[in-house]
Amino acid sequence: MPAVPALIPKPARLEATGGDPFVISESTTVVVNGRPDLIGIAVLAADLLGRVTGRSIEIRYAESDAPDVVRLRLTTADGEGDESYKLVSNAGRVDLEARSPAGLVRAIVTLRQLLTTAPDGSLRVPAVVIEDAPRYAWRGLSIDVARHFVAKRDLKVIIGLMAHYKLNVLHLHLTDDQGWRLQVRSRPQLTRLSSGTSVNGDPGGFYTADDYADIVAFASVRGVRVVPEIDVPGHVNAATHAYGNLTPSGEPTDVYTGIEVGFSRLYADLPATGDFLREVFADVAEMTPGDYVHIGGDEVLTMEPAEYATLVAAASDAVRAAGKKVVGWQEIASTPLEPGTVVQYWDTRVDPAPFVAAAEAGALLLMSPGSKAYLDMKYDASTPLGLEWAGHIELRDAYDWEPSTLVPGVPAESVIGVEAAIWTETLRDLPALTSMLLPRLAAIAEVAWTEPEQRDWEDFRTRVVGQGPFWDRLGLSWYRSPQVDWR
Ligand code: ACM
Repeated sequence: MPAVPALIPKPARLEATGGDPFVISESTTVVVNGRPDLIGIAVLAADLLGRVTGRSIEIRYAESDAPDVVRLRLTTADGEGDESYKLVSNAGRVDLEARSPAGLVRAIVTLRQLLTTAPDGSLRVPAVVIEDAPRYAWRGLSIDVARHFVAKRDLKVIIGLMAHYKLNVLHLHLTDDQGWRLQVRSRPQLTRLSSGTSVNGDPGGFYTADDYADIVAFASVRGVRVVPEIDVPGHVNAATHAYGNLTPSGEPTDVYTGIEVGFSRLYADLPATGDFLREVFADVAEMTPGDYVHIGGDEVLTMEPAEYATLVAAASDAVRAAGKKVVGWQEIASTPLEPGTVVQYWDTRVDPAPFVAAAEAGALLLMSPGSKAYLDMKYDASTPLGLEWAGHIELRDAYDWEPSTLVPGVPAESVIGVEAAIWTETLRDLPALTSMLLPRLAAIAEVAWTEPEQRDWEDFRTRVVGQGPFWDRLGLSWYRSPQVDWR
C-alpha cells in the first residue's frame, strides 16, 4: 500500500494510486487558460511552488497536453462560491480542477502540502487522486487588532496561514475601548485621536484606507474574505474619546488601556449617535467587497434591554442600508433579528433558549465557543501568555467538538460555520500570536472543513506532526503540544 500523505484539513476523498511521483524539474511550468480571473491564481501557484522549490516557475497561458506541467482549470463559468476541487497527480503532470477560483486556491494549497523532499533533494508530489469540498461555507478566524494593533505585514503572515488550512473568512475586530484601527472617511478623528494606544500603554497603530484595501486584496487572492467588525453599542471608548458628542455631557471620555469590559456605551437618545452609526457603517461597507459587516453587540453591561435593542437595530439597519448582511455576537439574539442575520456564538455559560428562538426566526449561527475556539486561552496552567476565563484549551480540546450539536435545540441547518478567535490583551507581537494559533488553528480548520465521519483525533495527531517543520521553515513560533509526538 502506498503511504497516504498527511493533509490538513483532511480531504473528503484521497486515494494514493501508487504510481511514480511527479518530480518538479527545471522545466516544470504552471499552465492556465487565459481567463483574466485565473491569472492571479496562476501567479499564486507559481509563487508558492517557487518558494518551496527555490526557483522561479514559469506560467503559460495556453492549454496543452505537454508533460511536466501543473495545470489549473475551471470546469464551469458560474461556480462562484463553490470551493470543491479535484487534484490528480502522476509522473507526467498535476491537474487541478475546480468550479471557482476559490476552489483552485484550495487545490493549490493541497498541492503545496503534498510536496515532499526526496533523499536526493528533489521535490516530489506523490501520485494521488483527491476529491474534496468543505463541510461549512464559513471557516473563519477573528483577530482582535484593537487591544494590540497587528501590523499589516504580520496580518499577511496570518492570512497566509489561514489560506494554508483552507480558512476563508478573516474577521477583523477593528475597534474597542483601547483603540480604533481603521481610517473612516466621515470620522477622521477616530484614527487621529484614538489609534495611538493599546493595552498597557503599548504603541498603537491603524490601517489607512489604502492599507485596508491592500489587506482585502491580499486575502482575496488567497480565497479569504474580510469581515470588518465595528463593535457597538458597547466597547466604544475609542469612539467616545474621539467624538465627545457621543456622550451625554458632550465631553470626550479618557483614553483606556486596561482590560476590563462592559463599561463604555453609546446613547440612543443623542442625535449624534444615529448619524455616527449610519455614516461609519456606510463608509466601512463601501470599503469592503465581501457580503458581511459585523456590528459587535457583545458585553454591554450598563444598558437596559430596550435601549440595547434600539441600538442593535440602528446598527443593523445601517449595515443593510449599505447593501451588506449583518453579523453580531451572540447577545444580539435577545433582540428582534431579520432572517439571515448571523449570530456568532461565543459564551457557552449562558442559556441556549435565545439562540434556538433566533434560529427558528431565520438567523444563522456561527460557532466560536470560547472553551474550544478562543485561541487566546492558555493551553495549560504553565502557558506564559493568554487568558483563562473560558478554561484551558489543549490541542485535543480545539479538535474534539461538534459544531452542529454544540447548542442544544439549534438545528444543524442553521449552523453557517465555525470561527476561531484570538483576543490580544496579552499578545503584543507576531511570535505571541502564532504561539497561540499554532497548532490549534489547524485543528479548528479541520473541524470547519472536514465531515465529522472523517474526523478522528488519533489520526489528526499523527498528521499534524508534519506541520512542525513547515512552521519552522517559515520561522514561526509555535507550541509543542505534549499531545503530539513531534519529530
Ligand atoms: C467576546 O468575547 N466578548 C465576543
